[in-house]
Amino acid sequence: VPEFSFDALRRHPDVEAENLFASDAADRLLLDEAAPALECAIGHPGRVAVIGDDYGALTLAAAAVLGLDGIRVHQDPLSGERALAANALALGGEALAGRYRSLPLSQELLAGATVVIMRLPRSLAQLDDQARAVAAWADPSVVVYAAGRLKHMTTAMNEVLARSFGTVGATRARQKSRVLVASSPKPGVEPPTPIREFNPELGLTVCATGGVFAGTRLDIGTRLLLAQLDDMKPDARTAVDLGCGTGLLAASLARARPSLEVIATDQSAAAVESAGLTMRANALEVQVVRDDALSGFDAGSADLIVLNPPFHVGSTVHAGIALKLFEAAGRVLAPGGELWTVFNSHLSYRAALQRGVGPSRQVDRNAKFTVMVSTKR
Ligand SMILES: C[S@@+](CC[C@H](N)C(=O)[O-])C[C@H]1O[C@@H](n2cnc3c(N)ncnc32)[C@H](O)[C@@H]1O
Repeated sequence: VPEFSFDALRRHPDVEAENLFASDAADRLLLDEAAPALECAIGHPGRVAVIGDDYGALTLAAAAVLGLDGIRVHQDPLSGERALAANALALGGEALAGRYRSLPLSQELLAGATVVIMRLPRSLAQLDDQARAVAAWADPSVVVYAAGRLKHMTTAMNEVLARSFGTVGATRARQKSRVLVASSPKPGVEPPTPIREFNPELGLTVCATGGVFAGTRLDIGTRLLLAQLDDMKPDARTAVDLGCGTGLLAASLARARPSLEVIATDQSAAAVESAGLTMRANALEVQVVRDDALSGFDAGSADLIVLNPPFHVGSTVHAGIALKLFEAAGRVLAPGGELWTVFNSHLSYRAALQRGVGPSRQVDRNAKFTVMVSTKR
């Protein structure tokens, strides 16, 4: 397996742009800090697990540069998983691709792992789930190296790690990045458990794992979109909740219109798990699919799409992800089909909606959010 250059990594199929990168200084610091531990795992396949690798920098450096084999990897977004697979094939062919396996955040990911290298997630609830998973399922001798950019790190992250590990420290910062090091998993730490909460406003039980948008709460943008439910293409037969999170939009649609076939989809593993649990908790027949921007949906196959788009690509605020989802909706809507979307009022998405879908009309607006409906020509 040849060595590779970090610069050769691509983000595709995630949004690519001049100011968005496939790896950063925190990846390189993490690999340097964890190198002695990773080297001890050479020749012992299955000792290393990777969590939250953005586009494969960590996994592929460990495989190609250090020669590690049997690496187990969990990435929440499907686009990251697909980018890792594409980067592995492009940079080292089947030989490199065969050195790691992608898995859910599970016992299978972590059993027997003695070194875990990870990027710190933005959400503390997600970090708590990941820390619990490692403490509950990895080898008791496990050492966790968790890296981040200083601007995204808070001392609350050390506190969350300290709930699951007896020892938590930090390395010296380099190039605006730092690595937290955790070891001595606390005995009796429970593996991550989704939260269930009844929302009286919606009359729905909402289920959420740590990594999902808004937890069990109803987002205020989502609330504004839900107020329009009755006007959303009343003759629709098929509807898609794109970027479903916990599945509140899909669940509300399915309950209000029992004859509508509703599919909820998200690229986040945490979201798909949460939405599946939400549907079961409310006895609703909604199919939940992990997919990146409707890539597996046929063109013209939906009459109605509802979308509260993210405005972050990873930790960067970027419009590219919303535009990618508008284009996806435009492809999957049947002629006459409608995309109903809500977004921050300061974002001027009308032109992008007209381009990606078709004629677009503002339906509601307050100081913070705007709701628009776009009709596929
Ligand atoms: C603002 S949240 C909305 C969640 C939920 N619909 C709600 O209203 O509470 C946006 C969701 O889009 C998902 N998402 C981001 N990129 C995506 C992609 N490329 N394909 C599918 N879903 C995506 C995120 O994982 C997140 O769950």
